[in-house]
Order: sequence, then structure tokens, then C-alpha cells
Amino acid sequence: MAKILTLHGVNLNMFGKRDPKQYGTATLAQIDAQLSALGKELGVEVECYQTNIEGEMCARIHQAFADKVDAVIINAGAWTHYSIAIRDALAILTVPIVEVHMSNVHAREPFRHHSVFAEVVKGQICGFGVDSYLLGLRAAASAIQ
Ligand code: DQA
Repeated sequence: MAKILTLHGVNLNMFGKRDPKQYGTATLAQIDAQLSALGKELGVEVECYQTNIEGEMCARIHQAFADKVDAVIINAGAWTHYSIAIRDALAILTVPIVEVHMSNVHAREPFRHHSVFAEVVKGQICGFGVDSYLLGLRAAASAIQ
């Protein structure tokens, strides 16, 4: 069975409590449960990981390389906009990477308009709340076929 790793970055453990206007009210655990249910439907194995520590995120991406995961979905939170370290770690992977955001980053502050991951990901989905993740999983599953 294909393995898809979902990576959640800094502050995303606070979904459900954090700025509901931008991010809705679903908790990260509820998002992960929806991803896992959709994964079953699509016939793929979904693993989810969250950290607030940049180096840990890089190490988890290195592990994904060693584990030969088939695709990665990443919402890196604010790291999206400036972390060259995470971008370089993602660039090591040779599998499809889907970048997702709950909010429409392009309709927000200018510093959110740029993603340093844009050149190393297959595509980006933003603005659909939890559906950004679910669409991201569908995109990742179809990209590995
Ligand atoms: C986010 C958007 C980022 O700009 C922000 O820093 C986040 C969440 C989103 O899911 O909409 O933490 O990635």
C-alpha cells in the first residue's frame, strides 16, 4: 500500500483554538482523523506528524526519504514563508510533494504571499480550510499513480 506522510509545522497544533476566522474550529486531531478516513477510501496509508521545532521537521523529512514514502503533504505554517532549511530538506525528496494551507494566504498579509517551497513542490492548495488537506491527499494519491 502506498504511504503518504502529512507534515504539520509550527503552531498548527493550535488549530481549533487559534484564529477561527482564518482556520475554522477543527482540531489537528480531527483533521488527522479525516485524512486517515479518506486514506482508507483511497487505499493509501496516511501518517501524520506535527512539530514546532524546525530541526525536527527537517529530521522527519530525512526519515521520509529513508522510509521511501510515496508522497508528502506539507502545511509548514509560518515556516512556509522563510525556512530555507525545510525547503532544502524537501528538495532531497524525489516523490510528489503537495503544499497545503487552510487559509487563502494570497488574500492575507503580503509576507504570506510567498512560499519558499514553491519551486520544490508539485503544487499548492490553499483557502479551503480542512478541505485543503483532503484535496491535497487526493492530489498526492493521484500523483503517485
Ligand atoms: C497557514 C498559513 C500561514 O501563513 C500561517 O503562518 C499558518 C497557517 C495556513 O494553514 O493557512 O500558520 O499555513
